Amino acid sequence: MQLPSRLRSAIELEAEGVKPSELAHAATELSARYRTGHPFAGNFPDNEPQRIAYLATRMPATYAVLRSVFGEFRRLLPDNDIESLLDLGCGPGSALWAAIETFDELKKATLYDRDPHLIRLGKTLAANGDNLVLQNADWQIRDIRSSLLPPHQLVVCSYSLGEVGSKGVPGVLQRAWEATETAIIIIEPGTKRGFGLIRELRETLIEWGANLLAPCPHDRACPMGADDWCHFAERVERTSLHRYLKLGERGHEDEKYSYIIAAKQPGQRVPARVIRHPRRHSGFAQLTICGSDGIEHLTVRRSQKELWRKARKIDWGDGWEI
Ligand SMILES: C[S@@+](CC[C@H](N)C(=O)[O-])C[C@H]1O[C@@H](n2cnc3c(N)ncnc32)[C@H](O)[C@@H]1O
Repeated sequence: MQLPSRLRSAIELEAEGVKPSELAHAATELSARYRTGHPFAGNFPDNEPQRIAYLATRMPATYAVLRSVFGEFRRLLPDNDIESLLDLGCGPGSALWAAIETFDELKKATLYDRDPHLIRLGKTLAANGDNLVLQNADWQIRDIRSSLLPPHQLVVCSYSLGEVGSKGVPGVLQRAWEATETAIIIIEPGTKRGFGLIRELRETLIEWGANLLAPCPHDRACPMGADDWCHFAERVERTSLHRYLKLGERGHEDEKYSYIIAAKQPGQRVPARVIRHPRRHSGFAQLTICGSDGIEHLTVRRSQKELWRKARKIDWGDGWEI
């Protein structure tokens, strides 16, 4: 997955305003912050090179994950138009760019973030888009722990709830769910900690009567073991700027994430979901799936013709018909 070309050029233009050595230094600082698990705690990012490093090295990954999760949402609730989006902890607007690519019907977007600099950058990037929703989006400097949240069809918290601090999360979730007209989508890093938060939020949403659409095929207790975590991966193509900043040879990276899509009304659900990278060998394939009976390890052999055809094509994160 790649960023839309207008967004890529807008980021490159911002990067031209910063000395390459400062940008490279900031990208190293950003990577170090990510290793702490709470990159945006405290005053980070607190200078322009760090913010531009976020645009160049993180926004492509969060955009790719959002596109993939929005795509899954669309598949599972295909008949609901999404005309309004509320993005909580929007940063530079990754969800807005992903939403306009997925929801042609989108008419209105409201974006909240406490960081005025990221909002300024988000607006500058959006001004380069050729879409009216991008250009007319309502960006507001707000702390989501204390803001009133107006009703919108789709509410998104993308890599933001883990940043608000554990005391703040329940209140934000409650107001976000009250503001949700159709569905809420929450995405966190695909780490033990990121999944831990998603698992807690999942339980609360189920108590409130939410209809889980994905990734879970059921709303019973999550069968994931205490030392394990449910996560998925999205392949992100690196731009030359990204490769330079990551000192990376590879033309891509795999962004790991955990997520949940919860709707106000029932939607479709996959009967089971592939929750690990499938292992394919010459005469058999091994799949780990989560279904109504919990987590199962399946071996599909070449002789099981129909199943074998499916197992050869299936990807991590896809639905699996049992
Ligand atoms: C990791 S960034 C994610 C940005 C964007 N959602 C994305 O997916 O690219 C986390 C964002 O949450 C914002 N944030 C953290 N705590 C917040 C709060 N209490 N109120 C509003 N925004 C907050 C940060 O300023 C930052 O922009």
